Amino acid sequence: MSGLFSFPRLPPGPCQKLFEPVAAATPTRAGCILPRDQVVLPDDSGLRNLNLMDTSFASAKLRPRSGAQAFPRGFAARQPLELANPCPMNQNPEHKKRLHGKVAVVTGATGGIGEATAKLFLQEGASVMLVARSAEKLKETCSRLAVGQRLAQFVADAADETAMAAAIDATVRTFGGVDILFANAGTEGKCAPIEAQQRKDFEEVLRTNVVGVWLAMKYCVGPMKQRGGGSMLAVASMAGVVGFAGVAPYIASKHAVCGLVKSAALELGPSGIRVNAIAPGPIDNRMIRSLESQVSPEDPGSVREGMKAMIPLKRYGTNEEVACLAVFLASDEASYCTGGIHMIDGGYTAG
Ligand SMILES: NC(=O)c1ccc[n+]([C@@H]2O[C@H](COP(=O)([O-])OP(=O)(O)OC[C@H]3O[C@@H](n4cnc5c(N)ncnc54)[C@H](OP(=O)(O)O)[C@@H]3O)[C@@H](O)[C@H]2O)c1
Repeated sequence: MSGLFSFPRLPPGPCQKLFEPVAAATPTRAGCILPRDQVVLPDDSGLRNLNLMDTSFASAKLRPRSGAQAFPRGFAARQPLELANPCPMNQNPEHKKRLHGKVAVVTGATGGIGEATAKLFLQEGASVMLVARSAEKLKETCSRLAVGQRLAQFVADAADETAMAAAIDATVRTFGGVDILFANAGTEGKCAPIEAQQRKDFEEVLRTNVVGVWLAMKYCVGPMKQRGGGSMLAVASMAGVVGFAGVAPYIASKHAVCGLVKSAALELGPSGIRVNAIAPGPIDNRMIRSLESQVSPEDPGSVREGMKAMIPLKRYGTNEEVACLAVFLASDEASYCTGGIHMIDGGYTAG
């Protein structure tokens, strides 16, 4: 296999002799330990675990080399040997589900980022209340995610105070509390020069993107305090830290979300409630395609290519990549993160 010892890089010694990468993977963090129950070690090996610390190790999929069992000391690995997550904290099976026992509310759950995040929250062990304004779309999303008793749905417009209060109340009654808020419902609004924009369109964007996030936070504070803390995530945008011509309502709304997050973090920190913003760049889904078409109805593809050219990673992000950041910030692994605007934009705003 080409690049055998360079990618992923295994430490010299028995590891290189025993294992080979199944597929190249992006190097992530350094170090991991294979617990004894993942490898077969002879009793006389003198080793409790197979130690891969101090390596530039990847999120590797490894398999035993053929004939590995013939190597000195008689090591052999059970097949297939997979390390999906090289974080040492997660080697303990008890820690694999990072949101085990938590209850999450996801607004805008029928959209690209919302559904992907709800799915990952469920996979990580959370109970999830899906909130969205279309009963029909909610039903479809629910049937795609179906995992029985850990999933529920509630129809609510994000900016309707009565409906949002009822959605949070229903979450508490269904699952016993709220630990995580993913305030994600949002609209891109209409692209137009400032002098051509209509007041009702401007207000509609602020209503959903700002008032909607604030209402979700407002009604989650009480339940989170009752649980002794929680994690609130508001989906802002890179449009919350830089401007773009022609989309003033959206830019203004996402800057407001970042301000709301900072203020809430200061206020709620002493109660153990962490508040963070996730600020995506262009994510490959319905919303970005709508913006491309609004900017250039005749040639949306040119907008896309122009945008990609300005992104250091030269591509759009995916819903799933945003979901991964959400899981981290929602989990106890992010226990010292609050008040942050967490960019996930392929490097666009780094320059
Ligand atoms: N896509 C991107 O490139 C990008 C980049 C940066 C930030 N974001 C942000 O990411 C968040 C999720 O958007 P997305 O990319 O997943 O786009 P999306 O697929 O259009 O999802 C938006 C979600 O918000 C819901 N929504 C809109 N207005 C609502 C309202 N008044 N009440 C309740 N729900 C409402 C939508 O429901 P309906 O289906 O009923 O409309 C949909 O479920 C948004 O806050 C967006 O601003 C997206």
